[in-house]
Amino acid sequence: MTRSLAILGATGSIGASTLAVVEEVNTRAAARGEPVPFTVDSLTANTDATAMIALAGQWRPAFVAMADPLAGAQVREALAGSGIEVGIGPGACDAAAARPTDVVMAAVVGAAGLAPTLVAARRGATVLLANKECLVCAGPLFLAEARKAGATILPTDSEHNAIFQVLGDPAQVEKLILTASGGPFRTASADQIAAATPEQAVAHPNWSMGRKISVDSATLMNKGLELIEAALLFDMPEERIEVLVHPQSVIHSLVAYRDGTQLAQLGCADMRIPIAHVLAWPSRFETSVQRLDLAAVGQLTFEAPDHARFPALGLARAALRGPPAAPTVLNAANEVAVESFLARNVGFPEIAAIVAETLTQASRRGLDGALASLDDVMAADAAGRALAREEVARRAR
Ligand SMILES: NC(=O)c1ccc[n+]([C@@H]2O[C@H](COP(=O)([O-])OP(=O)(O)OC[C@H]3O[C@@H](n4cnc5c(N)ncnc54)[C@H](OP(=O)(O)O)[C@@H]3O)[C@@H](O)[C@H]2O)c1
Repeated sequence: MTRSLAILGATGSIGASTLAVVEEVNTRAAARGEPVPFTVDSLTANTDATAMIALAGQWRPAFVAMADPLAGAQVREALAGSGIEVGIGPGACDAAAARPTDVVMAAVVGAAGLAPTLVAARRGATVLLANKECLVCAGPLFLAEARKAGATILPTDSEHNAIFQVLGDPAQVEKLILTASGGPFRTASADQIAAATPEQAVAHPNWSMGRKISVDSATLMNKGLELIEAALLFDMPEERIEVLVHPQSVIHSLVAYRDGTQLAQLGCADMRIPIAHVLAWPSRFETSVQRLDLAAVGQLTFEAPDHARFPALGLARAALRGPPAAPTVLNAANEVAVESFLARNVGFPEIAAIVAETLTQASRRGLDGALASLDDVMAADAAGRALAREEVARRAR
């Protein structure tokens, strides 16, 4: 059976990996004389008009959307006469999600992914959830809407996909163990971390990813966001989710059961593996991704996270234990702080410091208390961004 696919964030790292898997499985099926598993119905992006024009030429989707108006105008001009409809503005990304596709890959980076992903969930689509920020900032609401609509949410982030693959009866689970590579500064001294540049921060030792998540991996905020994501997806209290640094990124996470068993999912550090899993679920596709050779890897090592050098993880834990909208504020502040670091306005250690100060200020002013509606999410997100910008301005170099 051929299923139609929308990719939100098609020009990014997850978007590219998704299209690579689709290309491979479609080619294999066609070679066997079988119907292709997927047609690409719609693609969305923000500013990268060049990449979108190339993707549209290759995949011939029915609809493409560009959130940025200037980029949208460029894409519309380039695709004039092609028969491909081009939507412009953030609403056009929502329109892509609203099209009646079978499957939606949610791979926009940041809280900007919330609106279109929610549109897909509300119409009961199968949502392949790579974007973690939308769960962090609106988790309980997002999941309630998805449940109400009968949407299928498939965890695509590698750690959550690993847990999803080895999770048996939730009643027998003692704890979840999220693995973390430790990022590029795992062995760096506090002084080296203080002097870290954007180039060093985005150079992840194992994974090739977008810039924002790469910086999050370097601060360990990524693991903090994933902890919140895991708590929501698997309905697990914060104290029963452990983080384990595992520099080889071979074990992607584990589930510990009450009889002492731990089940893990292993594989090479390649996002095409969890993406192929959710695209094929509940079946599996044959793919050509590199096979894991444990004898060649030789050793797997583990260590506890160092909270002194990487305070972001503790901030995420505190936000998860805190008032309902604290994770929304944490996420908003982190997006502002990472953007400011990448723009060289603040240093690397200031990312966590800005987030910490924003959380304190939001709590003092009672801005993190309510999360009963999407308006509350928007208000907490806006408050977090405004406070974090004030903090950036105070600290700007
Ligand atoms: N990369 C990974 O290996 C990985 C692994 C697990 C989870 N994730 C999660 O998956 C998500 C995507 O990560 P990524 O690494 O693929 O990011 P990325 O490479 O930066 O790509 C982000 C995508 O989102 C689009 N986008 C950015 N801002 C937007 C906006 N305001 N409105 C609409 N579209 C916007 C970008 O369009 P332009 O190209 O036009 O800017 C691009 O298509 C993140 O939430 C990340 O945490 C990523």
